[in-house]
Amino acid sequence: MKQNSKAIAANILKKILQHEGSLATHITTDTPPQTKYYCYQVCRNFFLLAHLCKQLLPKQPRQKDNDIYALLMIGLQALIDSEDPDYAIVSETVNACHTLQKTWAKALVNKVLRQFINHKETYLANAQKNIEAKFNHPAWYIDAVKTLYPQQWQQILSSNNQKPPLTLRINNQKITTKKYLEQYGINAQPIADLTSAIILNNPCSAEKIPGFAEGQCSIQDGSAQCAATLLFPQDAETILDACAAPGGKTCHLLEMCPTLKITAIDLTTQRTEKIDNNLQRLGFNAKVLNANANEVDSWWDKKVFDKILLDAPCSATGIIRRQPDIKLLKQQTDIDNLCQQQQNLLNNLWPLLKPGGTLLYVTCSILKQENDEVIKQFVNQHSQAKVQSISLPFGNKTDYGWQILPGDKHCDGFYYSSLKKLPVSSSP
Ligand SMILES: C[S@@+](CC[C@H](N)C(=O)[O-])C[C@H]1O[C@@H](n2cnc3c(N)ncnc32)[C@H](O)[C@@H]1O
Repeated sequence: MKQNSKAIAANILKKILQHEGSLATHITTDTPPQTKYYCYQVCRNFFLLAHLCKQLLPKQPRQKDNDIYALLMIGLQALIDSEDPDYAIVSETVNACHTLQKTWAKALVNKVLRQFINHKETYLANAQKNIEAKFNHPAWYIDAVKTLYPQQWQQILSSNNQKPPLTLRINNQKITTKKYLEQYGINAQPIADLTSAIILNNPCSAEKIPGFAEGQCSIQDGSAQCAATLLFPQDAETILDACAAPGGKTCHLLEMCPTLKITAIDLTTQRTEKIDNNLQRLGFNAKVLNANANEVDSWWDKKVFDKILLDAPCSATGIIRRQPDIKLLKQQTDIDNLCQQQQNLLNNLWPLLKPGGTLLYVTCSILKQENDEVIKQFVNQHSQAKVQSISLPFGNKTDYGWQILPGDKHCDGFYYSSLKKLPVSSSP
């Protein structure tokens, strides 16, 4: 069974190594839990494992053998953190070569894992001398975080390497947070002043969460829950949620104010179906559109919105603990392109906001380039855009908004900036 879980995980990780999709695309509800665990652990510890493989392997594996490379990482990771006996780990990993139909690799896998067992302490001590292996992040990210957050950089990297908590958002239209906790006898902790957020002390899968199917709660990190609160939704307002799937923030807005008229957009039907499913589970309605938010003429009815939420596509460098494959998939060179996408969305959506209205820009990035710098450039080019002061119970004020770092109050790293649209006459 474990042998199969390892082989399935090796095939998934092979795809990630080749940049063919992400963990989110390959891991489904049908994926065995042990396979999921191997995939996440290998991604989380990828830079240590890659360093160990470099020391242990006579040569870098060929691309077509990336499954064996991944399998070796799975075996090494188990030798580091599993309570199973070493001989059992070696035997399962070697046997997984059969399942992968690469019996030629059995001797190699056996030799490498035994070599590691025999000199484990030395290999692990030597890895501490390599910065990527020591901190388990790519060098570009370590450098960026060190420069941006000279006091907190080690704390950020360490938070990124932890398993994330399971945080719920209680649907206060159906049940108060206090009643939810009492009704199900749930062992959980609150997050600062976030009234609907709780962190479960005993995490479990979504289908086992009490009241989940009935729409009493959703899974959503505390930082993500701050977005809707910063938009201060009021009765019957029209709100555009421009990058809405899977609908976490759309649904939270409706939980805060069910009379809102929300238009929720995302790029593909696969993504918008998730919004529809969440709305249905929680008992809300919204206008859900499958469209490119930038192509305004294809979907906009020319009625300006009271408020716009732009939860922009970004590097996701604030949620690495939830999506550890970001460490392998995102490159420094991707950031410029993402900033361009963020600027395009801001530029194209700004005319859809009514004068006096608010646009909330949100990312799950901790890179200033995607956050304050994007807003700085935008307000410099739009005299009607004025940054509004915002504050949250945790995180820090920045020049143009608010930044939460990964691990602050056990939450993800998020950025928010609130822009007011001045009436034309009052703009400078
Ligand atoms: C950070 S996620 C949104 C999460 C969502 N707001 C929530 O809280 O559940 C960003 C989303 O933007 C979507 N996206 C990216 N570019 C887009 C575009 N040009 N138009 C519409 N959606 C876009 C992506 O498909 C992705 O679902």
